[in-house]
Amino acid sequence: MNPFLYHIPTKVYFGENQLHHLGEELAKFGKRVLLTYGGGSIKKNGLYDTILKEIQAANLEVYELSGIAPNPRIESVRAGAAICKEKQIDVILAVGGGSTLDASKFMAAGAYVDHDPWEFFSKNAPIEKAVPLVTVLTLSATGSEMDCGGVVSNLETQDKLGRLATPLLPKVSFLDPTITYTVSPYQTACGTADILSHIFEVYFTTEKDLYMLDCFMEGMIKTVLRYTPIAMKDPTNYEARANLMWTSSWAINGFVNGGKEHDWSCHPMEHELSAIYDITHGLGLAILTPRWLEYCLDETTLPKYVQFGVNVFGIDDTLEPMTIAREAIKRLSDFFFNTLQLDDTFTKVGIKAEDIPLMARKACGGGTLEGFKPLNQKDIEAIFTKCI
Ligand code: NZQ
Ligand code: ZN
Repeated sequence: MNPFLYHIPTKVYFGENQLHHLGEELAKFGKRVLLTYGGGSIKKNGLYDTILKEIQAANLEVYELSGIAPNPRIESVRAGAAICKEKQIDVILAVGGGSTLDASKFMAAGAYVDHDPWEFFSKNAPIEKAVPLVTVLTLSATGSEMDCGGVVSNLETQDKLGRLATPLLPKVSFLDPTITYTVSPYQTACGTADILSHIFEVYFTTEKDLYMLDCFMEGMIKTVLRYTPIAMKDPTNYEARANLMWTSSWAINGFVNGGKEHDWSCHPMEHELSAIYDITHGLGLAILTPRWLEYCLDETTLPKYVQFGVNVFGIDDTLEPMTIAREAIKRLSDFFFNTLQLDDTFTKVGIKAEDIPLMARKACGGGTLEGFKPLNQKDIEAIFTKCI
C-alpha cells in the first residue's frame, strides 16, 4: 500500500426533499446564480420548476445555460464561461447527469482565465481557481457530484479529454434518489456499467491492496448487481434508486483508491469510442470490460479474478482457479448483455473496424497504459478487435 491523501470536502444532502436547503446553500456564495442543465429532462419531470421556486424564495438572481449534450461539448463550456464573466456569476448550479456537471466544472474554471477553455485539456493549462459549484444530480453514474474531474468533447478535433483539478470539486451536492425515477431503463443500465467500471479500474490491480477497501468495493459491486434490475423494472423503487445513487458517488470519490498508482484501462479506451462515435459512455464500457478482463487474464493476474468470482458471484472456491476466473467473466457478461440488455458488440453500435488503429493509438497516447496489465497500442487493438 502506498501513502495517500484523502480530502473530499463536498457537502452532501442525501434523500427526498433535501432541495429545501438549496436556496440557503446557494446564498452562501452570493446573489448571482448560473443555472446549467441538459436537453430538457428537468423540464419534463418538474425538477426545473422546483429549483426555480427554491432560487426565487432565496431572492437570488438567476441566469441560465441549457442544452448541454451527453458527451458535453467544448462550445457549452465556452458559452458558460462567457456568461460567468459577463454577469459576474457568484455560483454555478449544475442540474443533471455527468455531462452537465462536467461541463459546468470547466465553465467555473474558464471564468478565471483569458484563454480558450479547451486549453485546460489540450495544453494542460493550470486550473487554480473556479466559481463555486453546487450540483443537483439527476442520474447515478459518473460520480461527478463528488469528484474533481470532468471530461469534455471537441468534435472539431475528435477528442474527448479529461482533467482533474481540486478547485473543480463541487462545494455542495444534492442527491435525491426520487429525481432519478424518470431515468430510462437504458440510461440506468449505462449508469451502472459506468459505476462498475469505476470500481473495476481500481479493484483489478496487481498492486498491494487494503483488504478493507477490497471488501468495500465488493460490497458496492454486489449492491449494483442487486439493485439495477430492480430500478429498471420498477423505476420508482426508492431503495433501488438510493442504493445506486450513493454507490455512484463512492465508486469514484477517491476513497477506494487507497494510494494505488496504476493507470486506468477501460476509461481511456472508451473515451476514444465516444470521441469518434458519440456513444454513451457506460455502453462503451460495458462492451469493453469483459473483453479487457479476458485479455488480462494470466497466471499473474489470476488471483484477483478468483477473489472476484468467489466473493462477488459466489462461485465455488474448490473449482480450478482458471475455471473460476472464466466463469466470473461469463457472469459479468451475462449481467451486462442479458440482464441489462445492453448491446454487446461494436458492430451493433456502429463502430467500424477501420477506426481501431487510430482509436487504439489515441487511447494509449502512443505509449502504454500501465494498468492491471500494461497495454500498448497493439494490445488495445486486440481488445477492440474482440469487441467487433
Ligand atoms: O440532457 P437531459 O435532457 O437532461 O437528458 C439526459 C441525457 O439525455 C438524461 N437524463 C439525465 N437525468 C435524467 C435524464 N433523463 C430523465 N430523467 C432524469 N432524471 O440522460 C442522458 C445522459 O445524461 P448524461 O449527463 O450524459 O449521463 P451521465 O451521467 O452518464 O454522464 C456521462 C458523461 O460523464 C463523463 C462521461 O465521459 C460522459 O461524458 N464522465 C465523467 C466522470 C467524472 N466527472 O468523474 C467520470 C466518468 O468516468 C465519465 O467519463
Ligand atoms: Zn466512467
